Amino acid sequence: MGENVIDIKLEGVAHGGEAFGWHEGKITFVAYAIPGERVRAEVVQDKKNWARAKLLEILEPSPDRVEPRCVHFGIGKCGGCHWQHISYRKQLELKREIVSEQLRRIGHIEDPPVEAVEQVGPPWNYRNNARFSVTRDGSIGFRKGQSHEVVRIDECHLLHPRINELLRSFELSWPNLRGVKIRHGVNTDEDMVVIETDGKEQPEISVDLPISIVLQAGRDFVPLIGLPYIHEEVNGIRYRISAGSFFQSNTPGAERLVKLVEEFLEPKPGQTVLDGYAGVGLFSLPLVQSSGQVISIEENPWATEDLAQTAEEMGVDNLSLFEGPVEEVVRAMDQRVDAAVVDPPRSGMGKNVPGDLARLGVRNLVYVSCDPATMARDSGNLRSAGFELVRVRPLDMFPQTFHIESVSLWQRRG
Ligand SMILES: C[S@@+](CC[C@H](N)C(=O)[O-])C[C@H]1O[C@@H](n2cnc3c(N)ncnc32)[C@H](O)[C@@H]1O
Repeated sequence: MGENVIDIKLEGVAHGGEAFGWHEGKITFVAYAIPGERVRAEVVQDKKNWARAKLLEILEPSPDRVEPRCVHFGIGKCGGCHWQHISYRKQLELKREIVSEQLRRIGHIEDPPVEAVEQVGPPWNYRNNARFSVTRDGSIGFRKGQSHEVVRIDECHLLHPRINELLRSFELSWPNLRGVKIRHGVNTDEDMVVIETDGKEQPEISVDLPISIVLQAGRDFVPLIGLPYIHEEVNGIRYRISAGSFFQSNTPGAERLVKLVEEFLEPKPGQTVLDGYAGVGLFSLPLVQSSGQVISIEENPWATEDLAQTAEEMGVDNLSLFEGPVEEVVRAMDQRVDAAVVDPPRSGMGKNVPGDLARLGVRNLVYVSCDPATMARDSGNLRSAGFELVRVRPLDMFPQTFHIESVSLWQRRG
């Protein structure tokens, strides 16, 4: 065995998807391995407190090891998926373990009430949007794991079949091309392609498909063909989504997310509910029907415009919309709020937000998270503001990857 080649038994899974075990007393991470396996691996990073090793051979395979579906999956290949080699049942188990471990270790919550991970739809072909990078020879693909290199992709098994179809139908080769985003309305059949450029020159484009094409240079979006937005329908509400707005990438997941937020929040007629980091109003628009008044806060101007437009089309008259950072808006507010839902970006929620929500009178707070590590970090500020964690339900919005969505309920008593 070479000096850096080790034989290691893997004992757990880390946030980030790697399995880990101990070699000569040091925690060592091995990607593409599964807890319970014994593997031969080569140490490629050796730090004071941890090491990382590259999988060479599986000596004792896990009963949960399965054949990956995609030819682009694996060491040194496409970095979009991390867990195609793990049975779907085991993926769900591992995600629950990760959420619990993050809340224990980072959030200092001894016995976090983490429920079983819920499957929200099919574990393949679920993504309604994708961003592709551009290879040196001008074709489009995904980035390799931990690298800037781009792997050409003919078909991605996570994407909705319509996005694969559009991907195959393009011939995009143009020196100023920086990336391509494709978004599909799964329940509306509307499509939008966003072409990212360096802004120097406009491409000539002709298409014979009924799709929207938008040119993006930095934060400017110019419609080239059709409208600069599409719609997606979730639980009977038809949301407008502009090229620059966020929308959940798993449509059945979004349907379940909305239901779960309502179930956890238990809004009552007459109550005022705040929706922080509201996007195009995924939660605000159902909440106007089940509560008295909704206050939506979102800093992205395209998303606020989408939300305002959809609310107007629905004839909503009990929604107040603030465009700006949640942190500043809640700091300046003095109106009573009964309940709140927050769904911050991966970086998490502003430090002052829990304290300000408590000051406004919030008792039930639902925290929707796409990153258990930042949720665990934010739990410190929530607890300092008097909120106690009641339950956490992880949802599998991102099968075959280590990414985890979760909905948690926090209550303030007294
Ligand atoms: C994870 S998305 C959630 C959106 C929406 N709840 C949904 O599910 O579609 C987070 C949203 O927060 C917005 N955002 C990010 N930082 C913000 C901030 N400091 N204040 C207000 N909005 C912010 C982003 O533009 C994005 O729309």
